[in-house]
Amino acid sequence: PGAAFAKDKSKDVLNVAHRGASAYAPEHTLPAYQLGDQMKGDYIEIDLQMTKDGHLIAMHDERLDRTTNGTGRVEDHTLAEIKELDAGSWFNEANPEHAKPEYEGLKVPTLDEVLDRFGPNKKYYIETKAPDVYPGMEEKLLETLERHGLLTEKKLAKEHVLIQSFSQDSLLKVHDMNPDIPLIQLLSYQAPAKIDDAKLDYIETYAIGVGPNFDQIDRQYVQKVRSHDLEIHPYTVNEKEDMRKLIAWGVTGMFTNHPDRLHEVLKGK
Ligand code: G3P
Ligand code: CA
Repeated sequence: PGAAFAKDKSKDVLNVAHRGASAYAPEHTLPAYQLGDQMKGDYIEIDLQMTKDGHLIAMHDERLDRTTNGTGRVEDHTLAEIKELDAGSWFNEANPEHAKPEYEGLKVPTLDEVLDRFGPNKKYYIETKAPDVYPGMEEKLLETLERHGLLTEKKLAKEHVLIQSFSQDSLLKVHDMNPDIPLIQLLSYQAPAKIDDAKLDYIETYAIGVGPNFDQIDRQYVQKVRSHDLEIHPYTVNEKEDMRKLIAWGVTGMFTNHPDRLHEVLKGK
């Protein structure tokens, strides 16, 4: 077909605000998620860790050190202890160009608080991090989503929640508990990525797509995944040039710390 009939590849590309709009505000804080939404992110991306007393919190690392003024492992601290910490000042120091006084003293949010704040009409892309460290994390996650009205037939059909993990075991556990929740298998490559039919056939039995690191994939990889009708959401894409290249290859979404840039690219800017 001629150019006029070519499918507009950018039309359905999902804009996932990685840890919120984390280039502009401290990752995994309410202002970062708010900004992700304002910058037209389709999904708020949330990494989960679990406290000593069993609360799911939004945090990327297993340790408190990088993104708070605390130290030590999340699993060794209660929620009350973690709530004492400052999850914003580190960002101001590391990113003076985006520093704001209101970021000082921000709290680490629980998953419950994020879902309370943004409600069931927003979309969430939630990662079970270190599920081996936190037995019971998947049960707690599903119970929380259910309580917030995010597992109704309608919400599931509209993919209001996507659950992602590098851990196949964790995804299989979720799939076992509720086969209707859309899942994304995260993949990490240290060298040029290849994926074969057998692996994609297996992923298809429990997930709707894959999330590879973008810097080791090529057009063939994307086409292979798409030939299985699986979604492909590479991470973490921050430069417009890379965004455009991936869209041309046929990705169906991507994670970005700059949802504003992806929005512009999708608008043809
Ligand atoms: O979840 C997709 C991407 O976020 C995986 O990398 O380390 O930022 O969670 P990470
Ligand atoms: Ca993540």
